[in-house]
Amino acid sequence: MILTKDELALLDGKMGEALSKAMKILVALGKIYHTENMVPITSAQIAGVSYDNLGEDGLDFLNEMAVNGDRVRVLTTLNPAGMDIENWRALGITADFAEKQIRVIDAFKQMGIIPTCSCTPYLVGNLPLFGDHIAWAESSAVCFANSIIGARTNREGGPSALAAALTGRTPAYGLHLNEGRLPTLHVEIPCDIQGETAFGALGAAYGLILEGSKVRHVPIFTGISRATLDELKAFSASIATYAGTALFHIRDITPEANRFALPDEHLVITLEQVEQALVRFSTPEPVETDFYTLGCPHLSLNELIVIAKKLAGKKVKKEFWLTTARPTKEIAQKLGIIQIIEETGAKVVADTCCVVAPIGKKYHTLATNSAKGIYYASSKHHFHTRFLTEDQIIAEVTR
Ligand code: F3S
Repeated sequence: MILTKDELALLDGKMGEALSKAMKILVALGKIYHTENMVPITSAQIAGVSYDNLGEDGLDFLNEMAVNGDRVRVLTTLNPAGMDIENWRALGITADFAEKQIRVIDAFKQMGIIPTCSCTPYLVGNLPLFGDHIAWAESSAVCFANSIIGARTNREGGPSALAAALTGRTPAYGLHLNEGRLPTLHVEIPCDIQGETAFGALGAAYGLILEGSKVRHVPIFTGISRATLDELKAFSASIATYAGTALFHIRDITPEANRFALPDEHLVITLEQVEQALVRFSTPEPVETDFYTLGCPHLSLNELIVIAKKLAGKKVKKEFWLTTARPTKEIAQKLGIIQIIEETGAKVVADTCCVVAPIGKKYHTLATNSAKGIYYASSKHHFHTRFLTEDQIIAEVTR
């Protein structure tokens, strides 16, 4: 790789051991992907924050990186942690887990990272511009940033995003390059897709159809005539989970889509296939649902407002979590939205979610409108799952 004078100084340890380690991670990645150079970044998003996923080895790595007092060089935010930092006791988190989770967050804070603890950094102050190079590590946010914003990031791992944040650069390969962003598969949608559950199911259907394919496509969708921010948020999370997609285009909707000719390789996804994806991820036998959740990815302010209107004056009779970013919760609190929701008995949970919180042994069956949530609730927590719409969930928890 051709490194600048500054990059060589970082690599050679002239700026300290932690920065040398960070640079070594980036150079190793650059070599794997045959990159010639690094590219400066404007922001980073770090995943691997929950102590449930990190364990003691992860915490040791973070402490090693934090000990020298090095600080991130770009705006850097954090993915969800394993608990609501201010309200963990009410969610049944043990004191031992909480103590370790707080040490994880403290190590990140020592490095100058903002503990937003959200998978929607673009909703809470970490919003890159079109064409910005960034290093993000949350798969749903990576897909959203590339596709909906037109920023450029590969799907980083926790350590490589942290290394990029500390050095302010990342190897220039893959989705940082124009050629990496070219669509390779035309996907036609001849039906109307509406609502977050349906967009999530579309992402899952796409993943199922391409299951086993050796090619990681950049799809370009046609036939989708409209989509809201929240639907695109759900779709980004789903297609990233089920197909490993880090960039998609939608004709007339996403910012780069109309620059490209449609590729020859062509696929049609029917309404029937989308509906099959919905059914496939619901446990067939009737099982009693003991955990309901909305907010994967984290709920936007608008979603909280809509849910509050639907819940107002009702009583929630089941365990029901609405997960969101703390800054979003705080704005909603000032607007009186959180009070309306919590009076019903639902819990507005910040900083965490149904996947990264250590709740695996507490519940048996989870119902959500999130395709990504369903995937991990089943594969990580071994829950039975039910893939429902927001309205169906609200009807069940208040029945
Ligand atoms: Fe976010 Fe947790 Fe879902 S990190 S995308 S709410 S699995």
